[in-house]
Amino acid sequence: MIRLMSFRRVLMAASLFVVVDYATAHAQEQRSIYTPAPASNARAAAAKHGMVVAQEKIAAKVGADVMARGGNAVDAAVATGFAMAVTYPRAGNIGGGGFMVIHSADRQEDIAIDYRETAPAATTRDMFLGTDGQPDIAKSRDSALGIGVPGTVAGLALALEKYGSGKFTLSDMLQPAIALARDGFVLADDLADTLPDWRRRLSRWPKSLRMITRADGTALRPGDTLVQGDLATTLSAIAAQGPRGFYQGPVAEKLVDGIKAAGGIFTIDDLKNYQPVIRPPVRGHYRGYDIVSMPLPSSGGTVLVETLNILEGFPMGEMTQGAAPSLHLLIEAMKRAYADRARYLGDPAFVNAPIITLLSKDYAAKQRASIDLAHATPWTDALSAVPPREGSNTTHYSVVDAAGNAVSNTYTLNFPYGVGLVAEGTGVLLNNELDDFTAAPGASNAFGLVGFEANLPGPGKRPLSSMSPTIVLKDGNPVLVTGSPGGSRIISTVLQVIVNVLDYRLDVTSAVAAPRLHHQWLPDEVRIERGFSEETLTALKVMGHRVIEPMGQTSANSIAVIPDGLLGAPDPRTRGAEASGY
Ligand code: GLY
Repeated sequence: MIRLMSFRRVLMAASLFVVVDYATAHAQEQRSIYTPAPASNARAAAAKHGMVVAQEKIAAKVGADVMARGGNAVDAAVATGFAMAVTYPRAGNIGGGGFMVIHSADRQEDIAIDYRETAPAATTRDMFLGTDGQPDIAKSRDSALGIGVPGTVAGLALALEKYGSGKFTLSDMLQPAIALARDGFVLADDLADTLPDWRRRLSRWPKSLRMITRADGTALRPGDTLVQGDLATTLSAIAAQGPRGFYQGPVAEKLVDGIKAAGGIFTIDDLKNYQPVIRPPVRGHYRGYDIVSMPLPSSGGTVLVETLNILEGFPMGEMTQGAAPSLHLLIEAMKRAYADRARYLGDPAFVNAPIITLLSKDYAAKQRASIDLAHATPWTDALSAVPPREGSNTTHYSVVDAAGNAVSNTYTLNFPYGVGLVAEGTGVLLNNELDDFTAAPGASNAFGLVGFEANLPGPGKRPLSSMSPTIVLKDGNPVLVTGSPGGSRIISTVLQVIVNVLDYRLDVTSAVAAPRLHHQWLPDEVRIERGFSEETLTALKVMGHRVIEPMGQTSANSIAVIPDGLLGAPDPRTRGAEASGY
């Protein structure tokens, strides 16, 4: 168990660090030493008018086609979001939730749509504790108690209604998804690669396994066609009635029955009462660019901007990308911002987090002053967080249209294939998002993220997220749209893509492909991807960093706005990511 006392002690210790002369420590010629990430079939693509970069190619094309037919980026994002619920069931969903950041060029407005899952009304603070009073991870991760009330259908419908072009109805945007579910599509790429995991995840509820079973009762194989008839019916109900077709009536009843039979606690009223929220995004300023990202209940934007603010005081662009001195600064900035995440952040409806302070340049200057340029700052003291162990569990896509509208959308079931329960008769694969709550003060979630009072479970509460859909603007126009899956690693991934583009001037493809690392304060370790040189890793270890491989999956499907159009950078780390433009 983490003790708050030790948290205070390390904060006090931080003020004793001496800042050494930056120039002496980092006088190096600027160069990039990244090694491309492992090969996959992801290809960068340029387009003149509109672009969707998503984790699954059929859904990316659905969105690009919508723009080619006169839709805007929001129309495309909605169509892609519903299509991925069919073609990328590992994380694309209507049984989960997420966050969408929109830059509306027409209105010169930036907004964030929070469609995070909520805890059912019957949720209690101790719900994820065992009889011994200790966190029982099986309850939040592998049981129906972990299912949050899904937000995706309401969130995508709200985005279309408020920010769509007005040329298409919700039903129009659902038709490609309905056809894909009804007629099927060929299992390939990442879905084919993860069939064994998929099977394992669904096997606790054998009826859920029907989703990936052939007519003859054997398991689906790569190259087979996945048909989802129940899901087609559910999507058709939404097309006919709007969100009411999901949150009320026969689909809602089947969802509640399926969840109740599996031991869950959420009711028809929980579904009926679900509301997505339009929020002002978190805004930051970094080296002349505006950073627009997700506010609470995602920690993403706050931690991202705090980290960038800390880094802004260092001449990152004069340093070597991927070398130990610049990586050291990234790690130390991450460590401090993630510590604040653990301490302060939670659902803003329940917690009064000190956001103005956390986002201020003055606070960042104080944090910066505690960084020792030659040594890792130790943040742990008798702490026992578990290391991150999840793979890619969430999915991110970026969209930009010809008018300069941009959408950055990240949504999730939490674990790959969620809790593994398909509510009978609905085809809806359900999330286990409530594991993102902190089961008890000082406990950690599946990503090893420690939390305290601010993120305890409660009725109607939204668990703290790390999802960081982000748009970078210059003079009010989008220049970069990015985001990632990866739980706690999402924020550090987005940070590194931004720093690679804005400081190191890498093109977006190289910025996305460059190896990444991650520090989340606790556990006090630097998780790394392959590709850093031995020399770099040795230098980090000499500074006192505990360097551990692997880092776990992330996938930053990004778009850069370039002088003559759009450059889409599907992340090469996961098979199947695609840039689809026209
Ligand atoms: N479930 C991962 C996140 O929301 O951060």
